[in-house]
Amino acid sequence: MKSKALPHPDLPGKGLPRDSVYRKRQIEVAKQLFGLMDISREDLEKRDRWMELGFRYFNAPAAIVISMDRSLHYPRPIFDIGSVTQNICLTALHYGLGTCIANQGITYPEVLHEFAGIPESKRIVISIAIGYPNWDFPANKVVSNREPIENITSWVGFE
Ligand SMILES: Cc1cc2nc3c(=O)[nH]c(=O)nc-3n(C[C@H](O)[C@H](O)[C@H](O)COP(=O)(O)O)c2cc1C
Repeated sequence: MKSKALPHPDLPGKGLPRDSVYRKRQIEVAKQLFGLMDISREDLEKRDRWMELGFRYFNAPAAIVISMDRSLHYPRPIFDIGSVTQNICLTALHYGLGTCIANQGITYPEVLHEFAGIPESKRIVISIAIGYPNWDFPANKVVSNREPIENITSWVGFE
């Protein structure tokens, strides 16, 4: 980050569309998070430190990095990886562990390829910070809103 190099994940993607409800929700969560962490919009130093913490997986003791073979055509395998990722998070929860699925940690993939010995034949897709949660840490008090189930489901043939 200090080098000012732009993020360049193995699997390029775009941010959420401007003015979309998805971006709106992302901003809502960010406002809540920065409020709890006492980071104001203008405080560039604190924002910088928060960004650095994200690159360190929020000081979690371990991170799981999930990759897929470069020969595979996506998006199909991304669906499979989403399932694997969620299964890891749910299994962790079963053992009293906390997780944070983290895109940020894979935005400079060459670091992970080198540090974790992940061959170039693999495309790094996502990472998961994992550890026992510190509930006193303010960011862990974020509660994201959930769209009511009625708004996102259609029932056909059950009238
Ligand atoms: C694909 C994906 C990538 C994410 N990347 C990050 C990230 O880089 N940094 C981060 O703090 N949260 C990231 N999150 C959000 C957290 O993992 C988590 O979803 C968020 O804290 C809200 O959790 P909740 O919606 O289950 O309450 C990501 C989530 C997903 C699904």
